This record gives sequence, structure tokens and C-alpha cells, in this order.
Amino acid sequence: MRVAVYPGSFDPITNGHIDVLERSSKIFDRIIIAVVHNVTKKAMFTLDERVDMIRQSAAHIPNVEISCFSGLLANYLIEKQACAIIRGLRTVTDFEYEMHMAMINREIIPEIDTIFVTSDKNYIFISSSGVKEASMVGANVANLVPPVVNQALKQKYQASISLTT
Ligand code: PNS
Repeated sequence: MRVAVYPGSFDPITNGHIDVLERSSKIFDRIIIAVVHNVTKKAMFTLDERVDMIRQSAAHIPNVEISCFSGLLANYLIEKQACAIIRGLRTVTDFEYEMHMAMINREIIPEIDTIFVTSDKNYIFISSSGVKEASMVGANVANLVPPVVNQALKQKYQASISLTT
């Protein structure tokens, strides 16, 4: 059984992530989405909210499971007996950061490869941070994120408006 881990913040999951997930799920027997619990990085959504949104958005992909991890990714990969790390690669701006991470992970755990998956061209510009920023100033991001995420972003936006009025 070929198991891959798809780690990330997923704050929140976007249509680009889902596209990468759908493509990866055809290559590997099992994909574990690993949502990072990072105490030093301020997230818009709690870990539970992120996991719940992923669960609903990825329900149509049969060989995907969702979990969380904290600490070193390499330890988590060993625990899950994974053979690969999945990372989405959009444009050249992602490359330096992703290459750096892949090299660090190779140094720590040489037997595991990082597989870069490119999404459909329609999703190449989507990022979690861009979606958050746009929705917090009232943009409609319904085409960029799964419906459950769109709803959650609208609620955050409404909450931020009522705080300022
Ligand atoms: O979606 P993100 O925020 O780009 O994901 C980054 C993530 C979670 C994959 C990365 O920060 C990570 O692997 N964190 C765990 C700590 C670790 O293992 N660091 C060494 C590899 S850089």
C-alpha cells in the first residue's frame, strides 16, 4: 500500500488544494491530509474548523483520510509509514520555499520523496491567504473555495463588520 501525506495549514482549504488532492488520490493508494497544529502561526480558523471543512470538502474522494500533526513532519511520516509527501506547486514563487522544505525533509528522512503536484490552470492563482484577504474586504470567493468554506468566510466577514459598527 502506497501512502502519501499531504501536509499543510489549510487555513482554509481551497479549490486548488482539492484539485491537488483529487490528482494525488489517483497516484497513491491512500492520502493522509495532515493539518499542522502550529502554535507560532496565527490561523483564521481553529484546527477543528479546518479539519471539519476539509472533511466536508473532500468527502467525494474515497481514499483520503484527515488528521492533524504537530512537531516534526518527518516523525509523522514514519508513524504513518508514508512513502511520499505531497505538495502543490503553483508558480515559480512557490518554488524556492517548496524546494527548501523538500531538501530539509530529505536531509532528515532521505527515503521519503516530496512529490510536487500542479493543479489545473484555473486554480493556479488561488492561495489561502489571498482568499482570506479578499473575503475579509467583502469579495465574493465562491468560485475559489468549497461551499462550506465560502459559508465560513462569510460568517467571519459578518462578524468582523459587526465588531466595527
Ligand atoms: O501550508 P503550509 O503552511 O505552507 O504548510 C507548511 C508545512 C506544515 C508543510 C511545514 O511548515 C511543515 O512541515 N511543518 C512541520 C515542521 C517541520 O517538519 N519542519 C521541517 C520541514 S520544513
